[in-house]
Amino acid sequence: TVQAGRSEVDTGALSALAEQNRACVACKLRPGCTQVVVSDGNPQARVLIVGEGPGADEDRIGRPFVGRGGQLLDKILDAVQLGRDDVYVTNVVKCRPPANRNPETDETETCTALWLEPQLRLLRPELILTLGNTPTQYLLGTKQGITKLRGGWLPYRQCDGLWEALLMPMFHPAYLLRNETRAVGGPKSLTWRDIREVRRVLD
Ligand code: URA
Repeated sequence: TVQAGRSEVDTGALSALAEQNRACVACKLRPGCTQVVVSDGNPQARVLIVGEGPGADEDRIGRPFVGRGGQLLDKILDAVQLGRDDVYVTNVVKCRPPANRNPETDETETCTALWLEPQLRLLRPELILTLGNTPTQYLLGTKQGITKLRGGWLPYRQCDGLWEALLMPMFHPAYLLRNETRAVGGPKSLTWRDIREVRRVLD
């Protein structure tokens, strides 16, 4: 079931989905946020990056990963000559949780069924990078933590069985911002190792 050559992504369908998404009021997060943050980047990209949910800057600007964490993500990608046009970026939940708390189970279930799962079916990326515990545990259906899972490739199978992606969990940039050490074996140095591994698989 490994995909044999990826076909063009239907950007019309993806735009229609985004428009519906922006009008979503399906869970309790929407009243507390400014706007729905759908996605950003190149839909035809081979790499999909999935974060947790919008933060304050994303909520204000309306695009994922535009705050300090996003700037660090850009630096990580740039280390292996990847830009925003080489990736597509979205989040598990599309509305900012209050005070950046983790999304709750009902919010994640509602939001992913309506938006992330249809996005995945349209995008069918080759590689998926999950940033931090929330997207990793959601997409892999595991309770294992990011420290244990990061840096390895795992198969991601869509339940329709029609395609399979390789998924690599990586540390969330917000975690790296709280752990600035550059020591070998520290989260930053491991992340730079991980992104080089992504480059290797792409090449
Ligand atoms: N953190 C996330 O997980 N997603 C964003 O879009 C921004 C910060």
